Amino acid sequence: MSIHKIAKSLFLTAAVLLTVPFLAVAQQSESHMGKLTGHSDAGKQLYYRFCWGCHGFRGDGSGENWLATGNFPTEPYLNIQPRNFDAGVFKCRSTPTGTLPTDEDLYNSVGRGFVMTNMPSWISLTNQQRADLVAFIKSFSPRFRGEKPGDPINVPAEPMLTVESIKHGKELFQKLECWKCHGQEGRGDGPSASTLTDSNDNPIRPYNFAVGSRFKCGVTNGDLYKIFMTGLDGSPMPSFADVVKPVEAWDLVHFLRTLQVTYKSPELTLWESTKEGAQQIAASRVYGTPTGSGIKQ
Ligand code: HEC
Ligand code: HEC
Repeated sequence: MSIHKIAKSLFLTAAVLLTVPFLAVAQQSESHMGKLTGHSDAGKQLYYRFCWGCHGFRGDGSGENWLATGNFPTEPYLNIQPRNFDAGVFKCRSTPTGTLPTDEDLYNSVGRGFVMTNMPSWISLTNQQRADLVAFIKSFSPRFRGEKPGDPINVPAEPMLTVESIKHGKELFQKLECWKCHGQEGRGDGPSASTLTDSNDNPIRPYNFAVGSRFKCGVTNGDLYKIFMTGLDGSPMPSFADVVKPVEAWDLVHFLRTLQVTYKSPELTLWESTKEGAQQIAASRVYGTPTGSGIKQ
């Protein structure tokens, strides 16, 4: 080997030795939730053990367990594609539509799982493991490198539940045309329901309130508030933050609870004690699943 060649190979070796650790460091990222700090290198190990079968080797939502909608002729709407982490678009956020979720939002989603979809709850992992996973899944999307999460929306304290509040919520459900997708009785069978597709061009159904108690994004009244004030990005469910005032949003929450006729809530009990409410509840027909499958149109 000539001196020239030796010098060249030494130079290349040095270049590789210098860049490899640099790249490895650059790819590491963290997540922060209260006192917890997640590390992507630990999250990576967990991801390739628990998540990639669905979310894909590259996090693009095309893991080998994902079967295209057509493969499930009987229950197409149950088969929502695993999230493509590359796009950095998430359904369950405390932040305004179009913005990135907080680390805490992602951490909560991983622990909660997505009801009526194939996304399991990972509550059996430790808090630290879920934090590490969040740090790693963020590393799939360039959005997290260039953008900060949105500022969480302000959720004012819930006002007292009254019949007037429920009635006003009912008016809003009409005025804001929630019924066009969700149907007058909230069974996920409005006139637009069968035409909706998500950001993967797969058919998706509006939520069927009549048979559901839980939501993808939580179970509490506060979670319900956030759902329509932030929207489920990547799905046809929009954000109404620009048209609904905070106090009105609580009225809508109170009314939506009365559509959940198979779930006993203070709202349902109060509404049932009125003549109008008792009639509405007695007349509601209950069938299908929370995601609208099984509904014939
Ligand atoms: C059996 C398949 C499956 C496995 C395994 C799985 N997921 Fe999912 N995941 C899904 C599906 C399907 C969705 C989309 C649900 C929807 O859009 O309604 C999803 C959505 C998500 C979301 C999106 C949250 C949002 O707000 O949009 C996150 C984050 C996530 N998964 C993290 C994980 C992590 C971390 C693991 C491993 C610990 C994991 N998933 C394992 C199927 C899976
Ligand atoms: C353009 C159609 C459309 C309109 C209009 C619409 N929704 Fe939705 N909504 C959807 C779809 C589709 C889903 C299911 C998304 C999913 O499963 O990912 C949904 C889901 C929901 C959920 C359940 C979310 C969860 O976490 O599981 C709630 C609550 C909801 N909508 C409330 C409302 C309210 C209140 C209005 C009116 C202010 C409204 N929607 C208007 C299409 C719509």
